[in-house]
Amino acid sequence: QAEPIRVVVTGAAGQIAYSLLYSIAKGDVFGKDQPIILVLLDIPPMLPVLDGVVMELQDCALPLLREVIPTDEVEVGFKDIDAAILVGSMPRKEGMERKDLLKANVAIFKTQGAALDKYAKKTVKQLSSNLQRIFREEKSKSFWYKGHHVSRQVLVVGNPANTNCLIASKSAPSIPKENFSCLTRLDHNRASSQVAIRCGVSSDKVKNVIIWGNHSSTQYPDVHHAKVDLHGAEMGVYEAVKDEAWLRGDFISTVQLRGAAVIKSRKLSSAMSAAKAICDHMRDIWFGTKEGEFISMGVYAAGNSYGVPEDLIYSFPVQIKNKTWKIVDGLPINDFSRAKMDATAAELVEERDTALDFLSQ
Ligand code: NAI
Repeated sequence: QAEPIRVVVTGAAGQIAYSLLYSIAKGDVFGKDQPIILVLLDIPPMLPVLDGVVMELQDCALPLLREVIPTDEVEVGFKDIDAAILVGSMPRKEGMERKDLLKANVAIFKTQGAALDKYAKKTVKQLSSNLQRIFREEKSKSFWYKGHHVSRQVLVVGNPANTNCLIASKSAPSIPKENFSCLTRLDHNRASSQVAIRCGVSSDKVKNVIIWGNHSSTQYPDVHHAKVDLHGAEMGVYEAVKDEAWLRGDFISTVQLRGAAVIKSRKLSSAMSAAKAICDHMRDIWFGTKEGEFISMGVYAAGNSYGVPEDLIYSFPVQIKNKTWKIVDGLPINDFSRAKMDATAAELVEERDTALDFLSQ
């Protein structure tokens, strides 16, 4: 059997982690044959809670779970990790503005980015050229090369996710920017599900919805390029739904405001669905997206073909192969979409500039 991979989840005593850890530990994300060492990072007052989580994970008796390491130290938390899922931050409570969270979170993600930079495994790209040559020669037979040194993926979930991801990446200059992404898969799943419910089909019959921009209420859920399999006939969503007013109105606002609606109702932010989306996101990074399909994730905007400002983590349609994502280029964008893509970009630029001010203080 393969060597275990080391996965750290921050905010491990929180409510998202409570759903997420079980799914990871039973093989939903990294595969049913991949043993796992789970590292649980949280802040000191939460250590007693983490002990309970460790006990429960042990009590699940999961064969893939080789070790669980609870810690409140970033040096331990990020040491030699293959994948980091950064969930821990201060969650937004009802009525709380996103900006209120920004300052505290810049401090958290600066520290964690710097710790990733220092303690996480180095990728092949940063090893000496001699070692790189040896790894290339060994490539086909060595799990070590394939499984460990080329991975070191960092997924940021804690809000404001896009900007936290940018700050973490800027604070970890030795890790390639391509290894950082932020979660907009929950919004993507919400959009797919809304269309599926409207069409009376299961959610797997809807593909290629897009979330553009920020994981906030300015995000733009776009179905111009999405397809529905309507009882065996594949067609565009506009054609299937036959209700442009809904698609341009309530559909968009429902997806944009879904997080707030869940908070209003549950008095807690989305957790089960967030954990599911994290699994979808990471699994697609590990195993790739399906042929002919794309998913949404927040990635570096550098080199995009949509005129989005470069120094942002912006949600795009992406395809993934060999743990490498690529923005889907060249989709036609109409004026309606353009305005919404620009509005969410403007919000991200403002958020970034405020965050960079905090970062330099
Ligand atoms: P929670 O409050 O239940 O758990 C957060 C945990 O993070 C707590 O245990 C807390 O002690 C810990 N934490 C705080 N600072 C930390 C630090 N510096 N290092 C390690 N751990 C730290 O919150 P919940 O519901 O699990 O949500 C976590 C985050 O995910 C929130 O920021 C929330 O807004 C965000 N979120 C993002 C979504 C997305 O789609 N991007 C969707 C849903 C939630």
